[in-house]
Amino acid sequence: MIIRTDAAYADELDARDPLAPFRARFQIDDPDLIYLDGNSLGRLPLATAMLAEQLVREQWGGRLIRGWNESWFTAPERVGAKIARLIGAQPDEVIVADSTSVNLFKLAVAALRARPGRSQILSDDLNFPSDLYILQGAIDLLGHQRQLEIIPSADGIHGPTAPLAARLGEQTALVTLSHTVFKSGYVYDMAALTAAAHDAGALVLWDLSHSIGSVPVDLNGADADLAIGCCYKYLNGGPGAPAFLYIRRDLQEQLHNPLSGWMGQKNLFQFNLEYQPAPGLRRFLTGTPPVLSLALVEPGVDLLLEAGIEALRAKSLQQTEYLVALWEVLLKPLGFALNSPRDPAQRGSHISLGHAEGLRIDLVLINDLNVLPDFRAPDNIRLGIAPLYSSYRDIHTAVTRMQRIVAERLYEKYANDAPVVT
Ligand SMILES: Cc1ncc(COP(=O)(O)O)c(C=O)c1O
Repeated sequence: MIIRTDAAYADELDARDPLAPFRARFQIDDPDLIYLDGNSLGRLPLATAMLAEQLVREQWGGRLIRGWNESWFTAPERVGAKIARLIGAQPDEVIVADSTSVNLFKLAVAALRARPGRSQILSDDLNFPSDLYILQGAIDLLGHQRQLEIIPSADGIHGPTAPLAARLGEQTALVTLSHTVFKSGYVYDMAALTAAAHDAGALVLWDLSHSIGSVPVDLNGADADLAIGCCYKYLNGGPGAPAFLYIRRDLQEQLHNPLSGWMGQKNLFQFNLEYQPAPGLRRFLTGTPPVLSLALVEPGVDLLLEAGIEALRAKSLQQTEYLVALWEVLLKPLGFALNSPRDPAQRGSHISLGHAEGLRIDLVLINDLNVLPDFRAPDNIRLGIAPLYSSYRDIHTAVTRMQRIVAERLYEKYANDAPVVT
């Protein structure tokens, strides 16, 4: 990509950006704040703020218990059906419930039980560590008959696709990976790995947390079995928003929710003493949904559907390319390393830049220069681009502020053992 490094060029790119008007649909109090953490916590859509007031005052305050029959009971499926459109799934294949971690637990245990006699679970060392903790918990629960094999990435950036495929065999029960990995932003070839796992008779569970809303995902096209993901990153659902889970239609009746609760019961208000799973995906609900935060996921999803995932990806690719090009000219000479794939087709919507002074640079950005990226040990400054509202000017400003921090050694005012930030 041939670029100019001046701010006017960033403004030209913003002026030509067909998605630029979406920025005005979010609450932006401080125009000088450069927010590059939408891959961790998305901004607040204005429509969500309005809905929050209405939900609390009219639905909870006014409708009281009647709200359950009017819209609350069906909200997990209603919002799930909209999310399905972002990830190439059928409306009845996605439901909103619990957190990403809890959904991973439910699906992993169900998948392992559906592959009895197979002992191997495959993942990689780029996966979100908590996902690995959950798998360890599932192994404990199931009596230590399975082993988790963590395949290392050769460079800490690219997923170990070939070594993973080579380990697949008749003992493999489950392969579970982050589709877009949280540190480097590497994106796996979902269709190819799923096909290889299926050839070995294994199930595959994808964590879509860093893909949904920025990277096109075609679960049905890839014949994917299972997926989970969170709603507070690119979906802009709000802190602690409930997560979603996907189960391919033909698998739904074969799998059993290990957290069998009344929301997944066939006739929940008959209060039978014996659990009978509801038909379809509702069986993967457990307890009462967090109605308010669940409903607040919907406006963010609507915004993404309105913008269109292909247009979002096109902008995200152009913006990450722009950032990489600025890095090459302005930051690389100052000791910043690109810790994300160079090939745009292999990366999601965030870029990690490593620097020996990464932590202290991050502290200056956050505390002194009004830039909010996040930091991932040991030295990664992670710059998340949310194509719905990130501007080219945001990217340019962040890069020039980082340049200044190193050129003027502004980081020296912080101790190297400062508390770790977000
Ligand atoms: C890739 C990935 N998976 C799982 C999780 C865990 O999500 P939660 O804490 O909402 O269960 C996160 C949280 O950031 C994540 O980034």
